[in-house]
Amino acid sequence: MPIPRLLVTRVFPPDVMARLKQDYDTVTNEDDRPLNHDDILSLSQNVDAILCAGTERFDRALINTLPENIRMIATYSVGYDHIDVAAAADRGIKLSNTPDVLTDATADVAFLCLLGAARMAHSCAMTLRAGEWARWTAGEFLGVHVTGKRLGILGMGRIGQAVARRAQGFDMQIHYHNRRPVDVPGLENAVFHETADSFLGICDFLSINCGLSEETKYFINDDSIAKMPDNAVIVNTARGGIIEDAALIRALRSGKIAAAGLDVFENEPHLNPDYLDLDNLFVLPHIGSATVETRNAMGFMCLDNLDAFFAGRPMISEITP
Ligand code: DGY
Repeated sequence: MPIPRLLVTRVFPPDVMARLKQDYDTVTNEDDRPLNHDDILSLSQNVDAILCAGTERFDRALINTLPENIRMIATYSVGYDHIDVAAAADRGIKLSNTPDVLTDATADVAFLCLLGAARMAHSCAMTLRAGEWARWTAGEFLGVHVTGKRLGILGMGRIGQAVARRAQGFDMQIHYHNRRPVDVPGLENAVFHETADSFLGICDFLSINCGLSEETKYFINDDSIAKMPDNAVIVNTARGGIIEDAALIRALRSGKIAAAGLDVFENEPHLNPDYLDLDNLFVLPHIGSATVETRNAMGFMCLDNLDAFFAGRPMISEITP
């Protein structure tokens, strides 16, 4: 069989690129700028598969115009809201993603956001860096106590469960809202909420760990925030579109929400500028999976899936409609 030809839309870690180039004939994007539809179309004319990231949007319009030769798209992400899965299935294009390997790194960042928000890490650090720390006082930089509080986890998949396990170390009471209850050793005490209303009512802390879908888009809005306890903390390491920015900004300004920790934003990298004036916000630039080990493992998982596909074996993590 001739060596398959791959469009590689972004620059991935060196060890991943080395294996890619060794095993495949590659079309690369050395500038590493996210590719738009026209770029993808012009670069994919003679390739058999595409290795993309969450920064490339494969909607139905693009998928319908992809050349016939494209048989697979492997995404270097666990989330696949950037790909129209039904449209790919209609065209017979196989899909894969990278679950599991980024679970711990992402759960760590959820906890970093939770603690960073609760303990005002942003305004503390900014005060020091500006040389404005005059003296220790008993009443300054007062955060929200974490230990023993109720943590609501939206989406009790792999990452939600890993967040729950970390929260147990802080004696937090775990609650979750999910399509169905989970039966996971060690999390027997986690309380399942069938309805969003009962879930929101207990969220002293809310960690968003679900995928972005029609169902979860703008789950956090004025109404849902009103149902949360006063002085709650919201953490989002999933997808920006789950939060309606204007509503969260209003709630952070009014103090209804004491603080938020966000690693993801709608329209990344152009986050709503009103966020940047808020002292009670801890922000990170979508680094959930950003450790050397994790980013390598994600790349190798993409390659394992591609290798399996071209060898006619089952993929490790095929995305199906
Ligand atoms: C993921 O894997 O989905 C991360 O958010 C990176 O896009």
